[in-house]
Amino acid sequence: MRNLQGKIVLITGASRGIGAATARAFAREGARVVLSARNREALEAVAQAIREETGRETLVLPADVSREEDLRDLVRDTLQAWGRLDVVVANAGVYVQAPVRETTREHFQRAFAVNFYGGALLVLEALPHLLSQGEGHIVLVTSMDAKKGIPPDGPYVAAKAALSLWGDVLRQELRGTGVGVSIVFPGRVDTDMVAHLRVPWISAKMPPEKVARAIVRAVKKRRAEVIVPWQARLFWWAQVFSPSLADAIVRWFRLSGWPAIGTERDTHSEEGAS
Ligand SMILES: NC(=O)c1ccc[n+]([C@@H]2O[C@H](COP(=O)([O-])OP(=O)(O)OC[C@H]3O[C@@H](n4cnc5c(N)ncnc54)[C@H](OP(=O)(O)O)[C@@H]3O)[C@@H](O)[C@H]2O)c1
Repeated sequence: MRNLQGKIVLITGASRGIGAATARAFAREGARVVLSARNREALEAVAQAIREETGRETLVLPADVSREEDLRDLVRDTLQAWGRLDVVVANAGVYVQAPVRETTREHFQRAFAVNFYGGALLVLEALPHLLSQGEGHIVLVTSMDAKKGIPPDGPYVAAKAALSLWGDVLRQELRGTGVGVSIVFPGRVDTDMVAHLRVPWISAKMPPEKVARAIVRAVKKRRAEVIVPWQARLFWWAQVFSPSLADAIVRWFRLSGWPAIGTERDTHSEEGAS
């Protein structure tokens, strides 16, 4: 999908952070974006900014991705309004951290409801339409945490790893249908999600626009997987070569991060997004 002019791109988690930046990046390419998240007011603000910058039409469709009926309505309303759907970016996410010894079923449920089911069930809703068009693209925004687990992110890591490996199967099963799949693995990104955390220079937070550009490139070049920033690939190679070495890197560089001054977040059980 080299030319995105006029394509319909549906993005979840578009009210801020990576999703909002991705919506702007697609609109700059000439795409018409459908903005979804729970907060209508924030979505309207993103839509307004896009209209002012690009003059492009946008559609605001609030939805909670942890609710199956919302996902159904989201795809149906997009098709009703614009008649087709070309790209689905499953980006909405929550950061559920919990040390293993304090983890409960509720932590897993919260992490999976948004990060796994919110992405996978959205894809299942959109898939029949993409297949009947014989063309389309699906982007799953997971995390470097799905390549190497970082303590105490257990519930989040589990959900992101589930989504990324499910996406691996999805891409293979869709081969030859005209529908492509890209899985995007960002390192630390400077958004609300990790505002409570300070991180070492080696995993410095990148601007969300950098991830947005990587997502657009992935769609245009039909990339199977994208790790961003590229330096994170070195870390992943260390993990493939020796998980014990990668464990040591996590400890040496304090990749788990530490609380940012002025934040009193209890990292034991809270979501990063608030
Ligand atoms: N920031 C990082 O360091 C980082 C690193 C790797 C991967 N990621 C992934 O990148 C994606 C975007 O994260 P971000 O950094 O941009 O975080 P963010 O600024 O906290 O944004 C999260 C987005 O997800 C939406 N969202 C949360 N729960 C939702 C729900 N139940 N239904 C619908 N929308 C929901 C939020 O909107 P509402 O609150 O309005 O619903 C918001 O638009 C996530 O999947 C995240 O896991 C982030």
